[in-house]
Amino acid sequence: MTLSTASFEAVTAMFARVSGIRLSPAKKPLVEGRLQRMAQDAGHARLDDYVHALLEAADPKELTRVVDKLTTNETYFFREPEHFDHLRQLLRDQPPDGPLRVWSAASSSGEEAFSIAMLLAEELGRRDWSVIGTDLSTAVVQQAQRALYPMERARNLPQALLKRYCLRGEGDYAGQLLIQRALRERVSFRCANLMQEMPRDLGQFDIIFLRNVLIYFDPPGKARIVRRVLAHLKPDGLLYTGHAESLANLELPVRSVAPAVYTHGG
Ligand SMILES: C[S@@+](CC[C@H](N)C(=O)[O-])C[C@H]1O[C@@H](n2cnc3c(N)ncnc32)[C@H](O)[C@@H]1O
Repeated sequence: MTLSTASFEAVTAMFARVSGIRLSPAKKPLVEGRLQRMAQDAGHARLDDYVHALLEAADPKELTRVVDKLTTNETYFFREPEHFDHLRQLLRDQPPDGPLRVWSAASSSGEEAFSIAMLLAEELGRRDWSVIGTDLSTAVVQQAQRALYPMERARNLPQALLKRYCLRGEGDYAGQLLIQRALRERVSFRCANLMQEMPRDLGQFDIIFLRNVLIYFDPPGKARIVRRVLAHLKPDGLLYTGHAESLANLELPVRSVAPAVYTHGG
């Protein structure tokens, strides 16, 4: 099934309004692939008919499902391990003297937030720390809340952490791992769109991970998101961005303290 140029533009305009992400014409095959199943499920033999009906009905639930489908949620445990090494060293050099709050903005299905949680559990044990993950996509937020992953996702997880913080599924759950309850209790997930004001009660963080999401935005969009996120970073807090996502040339009030690690200043 293929999309006409007009339908592609209409559906990607809706996606851009919601997410802020502009999908270029080169992404047309990807969009066609991702919408195929939804069109079939809705009883349409042609993708164009599905998009037409979707935009005309503007049913919030179906629009959310389409936005969920069009976001790229790739993530894995301990992705870009240099950041975890950096954070571990920081906690050893300057152990926090109060509660430590960490935000995984654009947390996808939760692997990043749980990797941070494992590191904090190792370094801070039962001291006061917590992690919150947020994402635009309700589908991945729900996955993160389940904290249940196919076992093959554990390939980047050191064996010791796998043993200590994950339960091996049995019976119906064979082949899956569940994050251990004590860790789950310290990590929460909710929906938040980085293109909009953040929830009022989000609060301030010592550490923010904003990784592998800025790449989808143009420079003004990136700058707006980083400013919005910085409003939630404590004065001495640290912001981690993806290693492919330089903040140079965006004229932001930050200074670099390590590769893809920033603090207020500049
Ligand atoms: C590639 S994943 C990155 C996940 C994780 N941070 C990592 O580095 O592995 C990008 C995530 O950004 C989310 N996202 C895209 N646009 C967003 C927006 N406007 N607000 C919040 N999250 C957004 C997507 O839903 C997706 O889960």
